Amino acid sequence: MRSLDVLDCCAASGKIWKQLRQEFKVKRYTRMRHRAAVASCLKIDSARYLATGKWEHNVIDIDTFGNPFALWLAMLPHVKTTTVVFLTISIGFAKGNSVWKSTATALGLNGVEPPPGMASG
Ligand SMILES: C[S@@+](CC[C@H](N)C(=O)[O-])C[C@H]1O[C@@H](n2cnc3c(N)ncnc32)[C@H](O)[C@@H]1O
Repeated sequence: MRSLDVLDCCAASGKIWKQLRQEFKVKRYTRMRHRAAVASCLKIDSARYLATGKWEHNVIDIDTFGNPFALWLAMLPHVKTTTVVFLTISIGFAKGNSVWKSTATALGLNGVEPPPGMASG
């Protein structure tokens, strides 16, 4: 496995990456957030950073709390090597919201259900 160079576009409590960094060898972990920054976190709109194309991360975590596709579109033209993307589509999708349903269909994810315990309401 290549060494992992992780970009966490939407850093918050950091619990998930704290755990993953214990399980996998992470060479570099960069965390960003566009609002009030948390510790060791760059305060920046990750979409702007991704759109520069001046990055070489091979793992990108996009968990916006909503629509992730502005970041996805900013990232996509600059992906030049095999890259793992964690793309979180929010609870609107899990609730069967019609906008997200059509988005999911466009992505070929029609019929994908969230794992047990992840669905809300
Ligand atoms: C669901 S939380 C992220 C949770 C995180 N993955 C975790 O496990 O701790 C979403 C965060 O992303 C931030 N965010 C949303 N869009 C962003 C953007 N374009 N650039 C940077 N941060 C963003 C929000 O301010 C919010 O704090």
